[in-house]
Amino acid sequence: MADLRTNFCGMEVKNPVGVSSCDFGGSERLAKRVIEQGIGWLTSKTVHKIDGPHRWPRPYFYSLKQFGPELKDAWVCSQMFHSMPYDEWLETEGPKTLKICRDNDVLFIPSVAGIGEDPDTWAPLCRDMENLGADMIELDTGGPHATFGAVPEQADVGAPLAMDPEKAYRVTKACADAVKIPIIFKATPQCVNQAALSIAVKKAGAKGITANNAFYGTWIDHETGTFYGGPYAVGGLIGRPWQLFSLAKLLETTATLKGFPVCGVGGIFTWDDCVRYLMGGAAITGLCSAVYTRGVGVLNDCIRGMDAFMDRKGYKSISDFQGCAVDDFRYVRDWPREKRMAKLTPILPKFDSENCTRCGVCEKLCAYGAISMTEDGPVADDRACMGCGWCMGHCPAKEQVITMVRRDTGKAVWTGRGTHEAWCRE
Ligand SMILES: Cc1cc2nc3c(=O)[nH]c(=O)nc-3n(C[C@H](O)[C@H](O)[C@H](O)COP(=O)(O)O)c2cc1C
Ligand code: SF4
Ligand code: SF4
Repeated sequence: MADLRTNFCGMEVKNPVGVSSCDFGGSERLAKRVIEQGIGWLTSKTVHKIDGPHRWPRPYFYSLKQFGPELKDAWVCSQMFHSMPYDEWLETEGPKTLKICRDNDVLFIPSVAGIGEDPDTWAPLCRDMENLGADMIELDTGGPHATFGAVPEQADVGAPLAMDPEKAYRVTKACADAVKIPIIFKATPQCVNQAALSIAVKKAGAKGITANNAFYGTWIDHETGTFYGGPYAVGGLIGRPWQLFSLAKLLETTATLKGFPVCGVGGIFTWDDCVRYLMGGAAITGLCSAVYTRGVGVLNDCIRGMDAFMDRKGYKSISDFQGCAVDDFRYVRDWPREKRMAKLTPILPKFDSENCTRCGVCEKLCAYGAISMTEDGPVADDRACMGCGWCMGHCPAKEQVITMVRRDTGKAVWTGRGTHEAWCRE
């Protein structure tokens, strides 16, 4: 068995798989369900004293499954912060959840939310968490809809605080100055410049960042012509595909602040999603929607899958691959490109006619109409082809049929795995 231990903000964690802030960290009973799956860490449901986000419309989970197979894991969610009064949580579920985590070697991270930039609404909550015995605290500055659930005079909560680096700085500083334990800032995918935000919160004293909270979303039921679920935009939880967006935002942080502790969250459903986030520089990886749409067993699947992957690859520990992709992350403007795009693409698909099944998918999907099927298999018109690589990615054959090659030398530049060659460098 591979060594799955990792380190987050100076704390050893038995494995990187955990559950980010949601119901499962809201009470001892639900925490037990995910702890039994072997998780390494758990964040609490966000506790707070704000008037509004503790009252959710019921029902509040609107699965989009019926609207198409690609939406099977997507949903709209109008649950907001913890529904339990703050003082009650502090006396009952808080200590009990902390204890069950400690008893099972699970790192417990309470999540708190204050109002706007008012330090008096943040600092006391952080001090309470420190007195509770927490090892670190997450600031819920990423909630997509808390703003619209609070009474108007307390509406400056959640995501707006993580969209503006200056606001984020002031909130983080109020909390970091109030306690000795590490403060983790939770980012929102709605922030345009996550690199600037990351620099600001680190400067303010944050010891880590969780990237990311969910999007803001809504849905219309075309059959009824009305909103599906509630007639409002709330948390839009868009399943596994949104990982590619959250991962990009995470990389803005990890590539900007190399080595800074980051908790990767957003669209993680499988063990390889966890590995991807770790390779992108995360120290720990959190699931949330996946636990709801696929059941708590998805957590253990991730742990076992990662273990098998590490054994297969010969990775002895997480640090063998953690952050391995970060140094390569760059702006596309820095990637070698043609000075002026040649009319005849220098890159073309090459077809292996023996492995080709003649299914015709490439002909159908080439947006440029460059492929025609012949008796000998597909042929690309080298004047119409743009060298885009789409046919290669969609070819369903088991064996490799299409390779992107240079027009001049025939040398392969992309086989469909990993990064393509920077062929234009010369
Ligand atoms: C039901 C539910 C409740 C959530 N509650 C909170 C919360 O109280 N505080 C918070 O910071 N994030 C909350 N989140 C956001 C998640 O922690 C997570 O950041 C987000 O869902 C993205 O991860 P995912 O794609 O794995 O769902 C909640 C998400 C869900 C689905
Ligand atoms: S590389 Fe792009 S343009 Fe060329 S044949 Fe394939 S899909 Fe068509
Ligand atoms: S998609 Fe692949 S297998 Fe199908 S015809 Fe094209 S090259 Fe052949």
